[in-house]
Amino acid sequence: MNKLKLGVIFGGMSTEHDVSITSGTSVIKNLDKEKYEIYPIYIDKKGKWYEYTKDINEIDVLEVGEEVKEKTLIQNPIEYLEECDVVFPVLHGLYGEDGTIQGMLELLKKPYVGCKVLASSVCMDKVYAKLVFDRAEIEQAKYIYVKKENDKYIYVDNNFDEYTYNLEKIAQVVNEKLGYPVFVKPSNSGSSVGIKKAHNEDELIEAVEYASNFDRKILIEENINGREVECAVLETEDVKASCIGEILPAEEFYTFDAKYKNAESRVVIPAEISEELSNKVRSTAIKAFKAVDGSGLSRVDFFIEKGTDRVIINEINTMPGFTQISMYPKLWNEMGLNYTKLLDELIKLAVK
Ligand SMILES: Nc1ncnc2c1ncn2[C@@H]1O[C@H](COP(=O)(O)OP(=O)(O)O)[C@@H](O)[C@H]1O
Ligand SMILES: [Mg+2]
Repeated sequence: MNKLKLGVIFGGMSTEHDVSITSGTSVIKNLDKEKYEIYPIYIDKKGKWYEYTKDINEIDVLEVGEEVKEKTLIQNPIEYLEECDVVFPVLHGLYGEDGTIQGMLELLKKPYVGCKVLASSVCMDKVYAKLVFDRAEIEQAKYIYVKKENDKYIYVDNNFDEYTYNLEKIAQVVNEKLGYPVFVKPSNSGSSVGIKKAHNEDELIEAVEYASNFDRKILIEENINGREVECAVLETEDVKASCIGEILPAEEFYTFDAKYKNAESRVVIPAEISEELSNKVRSTAIKAFKAVDGSGLSRVDFFIEKGTDRVIINEINTMPGFTQISMYPKLWNEMGLNYTKLLDELIKLAVK
């Protein structure tokens, strides 16, 4: 049997570069080497492409923060990609999960794993994902949209009408529409980078300034007092949803450190919730995936509000964390699909 030539791309130019190294090396380690001839491609933080030259059978999972050492520069990434039959971009965040690399692969007519250009970019941009969820009538946290342009803050209302406001005026809008605490997020972010929880006006102002270092679009969101649950969506012949996993962050919310550094953070699979709630989460996950025109895979994250049991969508991750201990592969493992077989399914769908 001819092996399928599979390009696995990891690293990348986003704030989630280090996480992607861990996801990418986990994918390589778990791929069936009998089926695939693997082309491991590492993109550094500046955007240079390298071949990861370590013996493919000896590639082990690199921890978050570990460097990719054995590597040679790829002079012509496009020529290198042309060699591959299919590509798995295991990239998180900007320039990877946002439709840019997907656009490049479209131009090369290369099949690839995961969501296409539109779903990738919509889901990367929290403000725009919210517009789609609104239209699909999926419950979500109330929010305010602010932009920063030429050192000025602009409040963008529901009709996209724009008002130049100073931060005190923005705080006034927050007071009227949301109350405290609120979450302040760069619209394009991931792994909680740039996100702060603000408990009062001073913290809000600081958080908006902080978020604006990461993106010119900023989302201010009402706080949801809920349990955090996640559902894995996989497209095979049809779109399937996994069982539900619950996150128990070791900090006030699921920050970068709580996600990757604090061993006290826990996940519970399957989540201890009623079958009725679980079904509601699963069907909403599929609805959201379809609403953004997703393909291949996504992890859809929710809150279940304490007291009311309202199922509230938080976000869709089109390239979720893919380490062996990440929620996405663990949820499918719980469903009887192990990591290696899950990768087979995703690649099979890409080349179909
Ligand atoms: N509206 C909210 N209410 C309560 N907690 C929130 C809210 N938004 C975000 N969080 C907390 O912040 C974390 C990161 O926010 P999220 O929007 O998921 O960003 P990222 O894309 O970086 O994962 C969530 O996992 C959750 O713990
Ligand atoms: Mg998240």
